[in-house]
Amino acid sequence: VIDIRKLYAQTGKFTYDPGFLSTAACQSTITYIDGDKGELLYRGYPIEQLAEHCDFMDVCYLLLNGELPNAQQQKDFDRMVTVHTMVNEQMQFFLRGFRRDAHPMAIMTGLVGGMSAFYHDSTDVHNPKHREIAAIRLIAKMPTLVSMAYKYTIGQPYIYPKNDLTYTANFMRMMFGTPCEEYEPNDVLVRAMDRIFILHADHEQNASTSTVRLCGSSGTNPFAAIAAGVACLWGPAHGGANEAALNMLEDIQRNGGVEKIGEFIKQVKDKSSNVKLMGFGHRVYKNYDPRAKLMRETCHEVLSELGLQNDPLFKLAMALEKIALEDEYFVARKLYPNVDFYSGIVQRAIGIPVPLFTAIFALARTVGWIAQLNEMIGDPEYKIGRPRQLFHGSERRDVKPLAER
Ligand code: ACO
Repeated sequence: VIDIRKLYAQTGKFTYDPGFLSTAACQSTITYIDGDKGELLYRGYPIEQLAEHCDFMDVCYLLLNGELPNAQQQKDFDRMVTVHTMVNEQMQFFLRGFRRDAHPMAIMTGLVGGMSAFYHDSTDVHNPKHREIAAIRLIAKMPTLVSMAYKYTIGQPYIYPKNDLTYTANFMRMMFGTPCEEYEPNDVLVRAMDRIFILHADHEQNASTSTVRLCGSSGTNPFAAIAAGVACLWGPAHGGANEAALNMLEDIQRNGGVEKIGEFIKQVKDKSSNVKLMGFGHRVYKNYDPRAKLMRETCHEVLSELGLQNDPLFKLAMALEKIALEDEYFVARKLYPNVDFYSGIVQRAIGIPVPLFTAIFALARTVGWIAQLNEMIGDPEYKIGRPRQLFHGSERRDVKPLAER
């Protein structure tokens, strides 16, 4: 590791590293990835153990506080989040300004940023108390906002949160319940959704997290910084990949299914086609993404709970994975399935509409964004983020009168 800041101070030289392939922009104690081993740890705990023994609220507590909660801390934290699940009633008028066919991520970018206008006691990012309450508000209100965005686009009434349900059961009730019929949470499906939240909760310095850090480094309020993260996550190379992966599978299925995988892979390998195998590849993992393994397992559980073991899309995904993992193109580039390859199939089986996948990712990643923002602001060495550039535009020149240009 070279401390470039020292080198810069001594020589005035800086590095050129587009895409930050080899630049650490911060020090962190939150999430550790060993991309060669395919290992992911939150605060030292393996993701597999967290997925098996903890729920999303425990993981939120862990990411924010550095330790898993004891029984009393768990109770207090759950309670604190629960009492903040309602959103200001004015929010629904803000929502009404959107077209009904707006993409949920367009709505979420607006709603999350809009929270800055509602909660004036939690907008000072340099005040630890403000950050603490903003963290709880954001975690608590994201499920309410995502379900409101969904209900708005399908023209159904909003379902208010219910405080005696768990975080995830509450979200599913707000999504799928109606005023005419009480929603009965299915434990397997709630657990699967909770696992999706756990697996997406943090992933160190990815594009959206780096966006939150950069945005927050100017001292802007936490809601604005998280809204920037939501906007960045939307892209198909990042959080939008789950939606893109499912659309890709549906496309292959429509055009011949398993029989056509060979043809599709050929197209992916032809660089001029610009077609990628969505849900494959990762900047850091050069081995199987551990979250993808857990997601595939969850896929089995959900499909068998729903009697969909023969789901053609799941079969297609598994066949596609097998063929890709044996193909020299993917082997040479160390391209493996990432978390998004199977998460779309799970969400679709649960009943989540495809355009909402990335909004659910944003809901889950909110805690990671906040933990990272808090860590940055609390670091005595933190400075406003300000990358340098390698300029190769025009040299100095003089403005000519209009008639001479
Ligand atoms: N399909 C086909 N080829 C791929 C894929 C893919 N999914 N991913 C990478 N490659 C190829 C690249 O074309 C490149 O080939 P080359 O060396 O012949 O030029 C090589 O593998 C290296 O890829 P890069 O693009 O340099 O890798 P990078 O680290 O910049 O990109 C990324 C990582 C963006 C995730 C990429 O793998 C990708 O676009 N994957 C598909 C989208 C996706 O699933 N994103 C989700 C990421 S996980 C998340 O955000 C939760």
